[in-house]
Amino acid sequence: MANLYPLIRPVLRQLPAEVAHNLTVRALQAGLGRFMIDRAAREPDPPILAQRLWGLNFPNPVGLAAGFDKNARVPEAMRNFGFGFVEIGTVTPRPQPGNPKPRLFRLEGDQAIVNRMGFNSGGIDAAIDRLHGRPRTAIVGINLGKNRNSRDAVLDYAEGIRRAAKVADYLVVNISSPNTPGLRDLQRRASLRALLVPLLRTREECERRVPLLVKISPDLTPKEREDIATIALDAGIDGLIVSNTTVDRPAGLVSRYATEAGGLSGRPLFAASTSLLADMYRLTQGGLPMIGVGGVASGADAYQKIRSGACLVQLYTALVFMGPSLVTDIKKELAELLQAEGFTSVAEAVGAAARSSSLSKRAGASSGQS
Ligand SMILES: Cc1cc2nc3c(=O)[nH]c(=O)nc-3n(C[C@H](O)[C@H](O)[C@H](O)COP(=O)(O)O)c2cc1C
Repeated sequence: MANLYPLIRPVLRQLPAEVAHNLTVRALQAGLGRFMIDRAAREPDPPILAQRLWGLNFPNPVGLAAGFDKNARVPEAMRNFGFGFVEIGTVTPRPQPGNPKPRLFRLEGDQAIVNRMGFNSGGIDAAIDRLHGRPRTAIVGINLGKNRNSRDAVLDYAEGIRRAAKVADYLVVNISSPNTPGLRDLQRRASLRALLVPLLRTREECERRVPLLVKISPDLTPKEREDIATIALDAGIDGLIVSNTTVDRPAGLVSRYATEAGGLSGRPLFAASTSLLADMYRLTQGGLPMIGVGGVASGADAYQKIRSGACLVQLYTALVFMGPSLVTDIKKELAELLQAEGFTSVAEAVGAAARSSSLSKRAGASSGQS
């Protein structure tokens, strides 16, 4: 079947970003995704990319990040593009409209997006109803948020866990979106402990024991990073997602939308999110599985995230600029890089950068002594 995406993309570019996004999701819901990919997307993944984590068999480590399919409309269509797993949400317990429009901006010259969507959500029940009826082929994570006007964040997340545990393969406590006032404060030491302890208890009370991950912000101070690592290990969460969008604006952005308020994603986020990943790998001594996200646009980017400590990676923004065939391209390049460096699996490469830097430090120290 012909890949029509190169013809569709110029049309989408002419439309306001949110209109283009909604049209894309509708087209995928209508089954038109098969006209947007090459045959290569349907081929089985190379065995070197497979990984077992949290009791789940990931066919490859490249996932769709939260925010694209907020309401669980198209997880299977996204899996058909070749993603190894799909994260839906953020969903909130009750439906809410999000921030006023416009709230989504493409920074074409920077290969970036600024968004201040503000958890626009059809509510968790609607998303879960859709997932109940789905064929269970894709690994689906559910990303949970709190309602903007909610007084008690713990109650909102706990409600999300109770409802989503029935259908999710993993759950994410999202406390790092910059567009819900006060949300990111939940990452601070005292609040984080007070949040995670009851949420893990709630998770234990559910019929199915679902892995519980926490998604963090790239804008954390060094002290906040240390605190999160300590609390994450003490409390016993199953993993971290590193990272959400940034409110920082790195030097050199050229687009006129760069100064819009909201979270920046895409290429300019790669360095900050990867360095946070490396920090968290070091601070947790490799003891906590992590999903690396932020600016992944090639197999080399995915490989760098894995070497920095990620077991899995996710992407969103690059898909907007490069189209769905990107997923196949990333997997192919990643498999080649792993093989070229002598790895026989993704798992072997996780954190390789940290290991080689500590080896060279040790070698430097011992040669200094001699
Ligand atoms: C339009 C848009 C909406 C997003 N919405 C969410 C969201 O609802 N929940 C969430 O955890 N992350 C959300 N994100 C963040 C992404 O999941 C991801 O962490 C971030 O964009 C970095 O990855 P990328 O550079 O590959 O896009 C959103 C990102 C974009 C661009």
